[in-house]
Amino acid sequence: MNNIKKITIIGAGLIGQGWATVFSSRGYALRLHDRDESVLEKALGQIKLNLLFLEANDLLKAGQADTALKQIKVTGNLAEAVSDADYIQEAVFDDYEVKKRIFTDLDAQAPKTAILASSTSGLLMTEIQKVVTEPERCVLAHPYLPVHLMPLVEVVGGALTSPEALATTYNFMENIGKTPVLLKKEVPGYIVNRLQSALLREAIDLVDSGVADAEQVDRAFCISAGLRGPLMGPLLRAYLAGDGIERFIENYSRSYRIRWESMATWNSISDRAADATIKSVNEMKLVRTKSLKELKTWRDEMLVKILKVIH
Ligand SMILES: NC(=O)c1ccc[n+]([C@@H]2O[C@H](COP(=O)([O-])OP(=O)(O)OC[C@H]3O[C@@H](n4cnc5c(N)ncnc54)[C@H](O)[C@@H]3O)[C@@H](O)[C@H]2O)c1
Repeated sequence: MNNIKKITIIGAGLIGQGWATVFSSRGYALRLHDRDESVLEKALGQIKLNLLFLEANDLLKAGQADTALKQIKVTGNLAEAVSDADYIQEAVFDDYEVKKRIFTDLDAQAPKTAILASSTSGLLMTEIQKVVTEPERCVLAHPYLPVHLMPLVEVVGGALTSPEALATTYNFMENIGKTPVLLKKEVPGYIVNRLQSALLREAIDLVDSGVADAEQVDRAFCISAGLRGPLMGPLLRAYLAGDGIERFIENYSRSYRIRWESMATWNSISDRAADATIKSVNEMKLVRTKSLKELKTWRDEMLVKILKVIH
């Protein structure tokens, strides 16, 4: 099994910066590569802010941010970035052509024992790994934004991924303090983005069909299903709602069917729904009263408070 000591991140955008924050704060030496050298300094600046945020919120000890930052070497040279890597976390644009090109390069330039992990939100590993001569070492390790705060990493294999590569990635994620969830088979959107996509379609439809404004839709969610969210998902909720899952299915199937039959089934957002959603979201109080940057800071500070309670 791959003994992971040296890490390389490919792509220094939002997700690469998040991974760099996580790996470096856990004491790993890492190389951060981007083909666009101009983004590397900016990325280091954001990683520093992330690390200082963790330190200021007691999620790192005093001085740890500085030590972590020193672990990171940035380079625009791919061969130099991957020459002795044990684990490579790819975080480039979400496009098969771009991913396949970088996996082809990794196949040629990285050690043959290195795990090649993709951060992709929308693509399947079965397709990406076709270009790699040892496809069994290719896995998908899908994080959530903000990567330095959200615990979940979905670990998924492609058709040719080995159980060993999945186990190594899963254990590694657990060792660095993430909460990995292993999927038994790959499917677009994995688990959480599928659930979120179903929820988002219905939320847009409620706004578009005039049932409620964005403010009410989000508020209703936050103080009900959202409030319960840290404790339980939809399935345990069903178990409790029915005093047992068998009873829930027996008692609620008919009323759920009425709901499901009236719910949105479209697969692309119509112009009318887009206009209604844009107007309604821009009228939300938090959107009107905070800048994007302020809203992200607010989100991160509130997330830390919640994480401190539930972990
Ligand atoms: N943004 C999200 O919410 C989110 C969440 C989870 C996973 N992801 C996934 O993470 C990946 C990266 O997303 P992001 O939001 O960080 O994108 P981004 O656009 O912020 O960053 C991508 C970076 O990759 C670099 N890049 C592109 N091609 C490259 C190449 N061939 N070699 C080296 N560097 C290259 C770009 O210069 C850019 O800096 C995507 O696959 C995305 O689906 C995104």
